[in-house]
Amino acid sequence: MAVGQRSPLPARSTILNLVNLPASHPLIDGRTADSSLIRAYRGDRPSTTPVWFMRQAGRSLPEYRAIRAGSTMLDACLDPELSSEITLQPVRRHGVDAGIFFSDIVVPLKLAGIDVDIVPGRGPVLGAPIRSAADVASLRRLELDALAPIAEGVARAVAGLGTTPLIGFAGAPFTLAAYLVEGGPSKDHLRARTLMHADPATWDALLGWAADVTGAFLRAQVLAGASAVQLFDSWVGSLSVSDYESRVAPFSHQAIAHVTDLGIPVVHFGVGTGELLRSMYAIGVDVMGVDDRIPLDEASRRLGASVPLQGNINPAMLAAPWPVLEAHVRDVITRGRAATSHILNLGHGVPPETDPDVLTRIVQLAHAPSVVHA
Ligand code: CP3
Repeated sequence: MAVGQRSPLPARSTILNLVNLPASHPLIDGRTADSSLIRAYRGDRPSTTPVWFMRQAGRSLPEYRAIRAGSTMLDACLDPELSSEITLQPVRRHGVDAGIFFSDIVVPLKLAGIDVDIVPGRGPVLGAPIRSAADVASLRRLELDALAPIAEGVARAVAGLGTTPLIGFAGAPFTLAAYLVEGGPSKDHLRARTLMHADPATWDALLGWAADVTGAFLRAQVLAGASAVQLFDSWVGSLSVSDYESRVAPFSHQAIAHVTDLGIPVVHFGVGTGELLRSMYAIGVDVMGVDDRIPLDEASRRLGASVPLQGNINPAMLAAPWPVLEAHVRDVITRGRAATSHILNLGHGVPPETDPDVLTRIVQLAHAPSVVHA
């Protein structure tokens, strides 16, 4: 093979095998199978570009700040009435093409008995970090009953969404381990990156546990009505390709294996993953989420044109004057045409201080007939 040429990645089937979903699931009963999001996730090009935003439910919305007053983040996540209502808020306001279930990547850890809290302005913080073989041996299984508030929140959100698909999500084992090993948010995840080499047996046991906990969280959301899922490996960009492939990817594969038999589209996303895109796709997903550090046409060149792409408006541009932002969004849409299909999104989550009207305007632009579609 010539220098610079890459071996083809294994092709993914675009025919969904949905036999194991309940008859009342929105992909089966006709509500979401032909939605623009699901069509694009399967590699079709619908007549308008589907668009949703990571972190669309949350602090950028005044109605979110109002409904959250007086409850902690984790309490809100475990209250089906609140989690479903917060999930619906951005769909009503912006007219996005998908809801994403309102929760957090550490919720399944909490449900498995981990002492974790979400500290406002900081993020997830553990009572005690999980670092030694004994720490890992003391981890408990996630019992299915514990996921009941998640399943109920999803079911309520799905009922409210009608023909708009709900995306379920979970954190990937490495990003969860970045919190578990550090005991809280960290800049470079150094302790986690040391543990994988210093004590590989403990690392493997920890990631294997995290894969099953986060996989069960994904499965509960799909069975309760989510039409697609996204695996967030937000912090994986701190790894080399070889560390990712040998010490992380098998566990990300193990996590999504919990939903493979359900046949729903799986999206994989991380930040700073330009060098990892092919390895992240190769765990067996359908769609790659791309952050704003590489253009979509370059991501498509690296992955091959048959891979649907999601992304990648620079969140920093949301506060720029509209003509600047509009030109950027049009450029993202144009570059997205390099791929077989494109789902417009940000390169990472909505910053809390974002003017929500700007997000609505982006949705209108994506749906406008004047935007050229392939
Ligand atoms: O606007 C909001 O931030 C709403 C509420 C909230 C969420 N998580 C919702 C969430 C809050 C306060 C958190 C805490 C938290 N958890 C933070 C932010 C710390 C802060 O205050 O700025 C972080 C970084 C975490 C850990 C986490 N949660 C990660 C790494 C991810 C993956 C996505 C990403 O941003 O990289 C999550 C997922 C998450 N948290 C979702 C939601 C609604 C789901 C994904 C989505 O909506 O796109």
